[in-house]
Amino acid sequence: MSHPIIVQGGMGVGVSDWRLARTVSQLGQLGVVSGALLAIVFARRLQAGDPGGAMRHAMDHFPIPSVAERVIEEYFVPGGKEPSAAFHLSALPALRPGPALVELMVAANFAEVFLAKEGHDGLVGINLLEKVQLTTLPSLFGAMLADVDYVLMGAGIPRSIPGVLDQFAAGAPAELRIDADGALPGEEFVSTLDPRAFCGDLLPKLKRPQFLAIVASATLAITLARKSNGRVDGFVIEGDVAGGHNAPPRGPLHLTAGGEPIYGPRDVPDLEKFRALGLPFWLAGSYARPDKLADAIREGAAGIQVGTAFAFCDESGIEPGLKRHICQLARTGNLSVFTDPLASPTGFPFKVLQMSDTLSEAGQYAARERFCDLGYLRQSYRKPDGTLGYRCPAEPVADYLRKGGVAEDTDGRKCLCNGLMASTGFGQIRSNGACELPLLTAGNDVAQLARFLKPGADSYTAADVVAYLLNPSAS
Ligand SMILES: Cc1cc2nc3c(=O)[nH]c(=O)nc-3n(C[C@H](O)[C@H](O)[C@H](O)COP(=O)(O)O)c2cc1C
Repeated sequence: MSHPIIVQGGMGVGVSDWRLARTVSQLGQLGVVSGALLAIVFARRLQAGDPGGAMRHAMDHFPIPSVAERVIEEYFVPGGKEPSAAFHLSALPALRPGPALVELMVAANFAEVFLAKEGHDGLVGINLLEKVQLTTLPSLFGAMLADVDYVLMGAGIPRSIPGVLDQFAAGAPAELRIDADGALPGEEFVSTLDPRAFCGDLLPKLKRPQFLAIVASATLAITLARKSNGRVDGFVIEGDVAGGHNAPPRGPLHLTAGGEPIYGPRDVPDLEKFRALGLPFWLAGSYARPDKLADAIREGAAGIQVGTAFAFCDESGIEPGLKRHICQLARTGNLSVFTDPLASPTGFPFKVLQMSDTLSEAGQYAARERFCDLGYLRQSYRKPDGTLGYRCPAEPVADYLRKGGVAEDTDGRKCLCNGLMASTGFGQIRSNGACELPLLTAGNDVAQLARFLKPGADSYTAADVVAYLLNPSAS
């Protein structure tokens, strides 16, 4: 199989949306939608009145019309909700989600992939985070119902995903073991999804997508290649300068004077070992330059994965005013990121774009009331009665402690769910009428964003990025 040279990295929440992925795919590269919190993104687009009608159009093509009708009935607000009204909340992810939530998750992932693929025959992938386990099965199933070509997954060890793809492609039920803090030896918590129970006789034949694992080390890649429950088709090798979550440094965590994790020679991936695996790989993390693409190919890579350069282009899902402002800051060289070892409830280092009037400002975050009403980054834990509970270190501290969490885990944690959602223009309206402030992530490459801006312009397109990367004489 011939693979694309450029993978447009999956970017949550809602940053690599169907428009961006479709554009990149039409340019002959791999467009990747983000599956992170997609049910919320989809539900909020519908509540905002679905301008342009894309969500309803996708639902017209959903294989089970009764599900599409229920989702539209529940969330669509003709003309859009009042700007001062809060978004309606759906149930939080859980081990046994109710049917309405499963339908919403499957429909949302279907819609995003369906729209990204519509009207051309380019390739489209979906990106999911391994750490966000409770939504994985409905996300994968919805994406496969829309004939997704690639599944890309990082932020953890996605050993059980290839087998899930095989099961769904066979029309068979799939299971996923959920990591639960405090589980007793031998005790298992398993999430399940049965395609036939969901679709009945309307279950279409599903294609098994290619599976690419996103990793930071050859050790992890070797484990995945040998010990996954099915075929791994390749790797994205992501360095510590990449946007979003980063793998923690190997060994004990040491911080710079400014509080960022220190990465060293042991964190540099051993490409020789990747070449020896014989599977295609893409390099990611400040690779968005034609000379770096050439380096990657020389190193035996199939190409590169690029995030930051696409994150701020016209077609991405970041709120347009924020994007324009960021492009203006790029011109004056005023953009930087902080690799925050604490911010993410997942425990992985997370890159935060430093910007005024966003949650990257310590004062702004401190002023925010702690809230956990989306719950996608909650960690599962075993409750004393043997059932599964859910807690997030960014939720109100008293709630976290009541659930058996440790106080020090809550220090510096940030509500990425609400902050990232706000960066797409769908921030929740709180009871005092204020809108959640955005939190943005980007890779170190954001400091070089101005290379895409033509004189006098404060925006650029995905086509500008692709043309630049494929032009060997560009610098
Ligand atoms: C705004 C943004 C959001 C991201 N979100 C995700 C994500 O949800 N899942 C993921 O695997 N990678 C995520 N990434 C990482 C990208 O997919 C990509 O690997 C990375 O950005 C490549 O490095 P670069 O930013 O230097 O191009 C994100 C990156 C950015 C800039």
